[in-house]
Amino acid sequence: MELPKIAQKEPYTVEVEVGKVYAWCACGLSENQPFCDGNHKGTNISPLIVKFNEAKTVYFCGCKQTANPCYCDGTHNKL
Ligand code: FES
Ligand code: FES
Repeated sequence: MELPKIAQKEPYTVEVEVGKVYAWCACGLSENQPFCDGNHKGTNISPLIVKFNEAKTVYFCGCKQTANPCYCDGTHNKL
């Protein structure tokens, strides 16, 4: 299978909390999108760990092809 796998061709909208640690799934294999559930095991892909210093709405990339991980940058529109 070609990785990263496209989990969905649109972002996941998440209201993030201050100081909470988020592990964005970069491989696309997680069943708990947009976050890592450990399914990258055996691939050479690791999750991206992110924290936010303000509560806000984040659009996490679901296609995993973004040039600005972990954020949707519109690349999904070209897939
Ligand atoms: Fe995709 Fe962990 S399951 S990075
Ligand atoms: Fe990946 Fe938008 S969902 S770039």
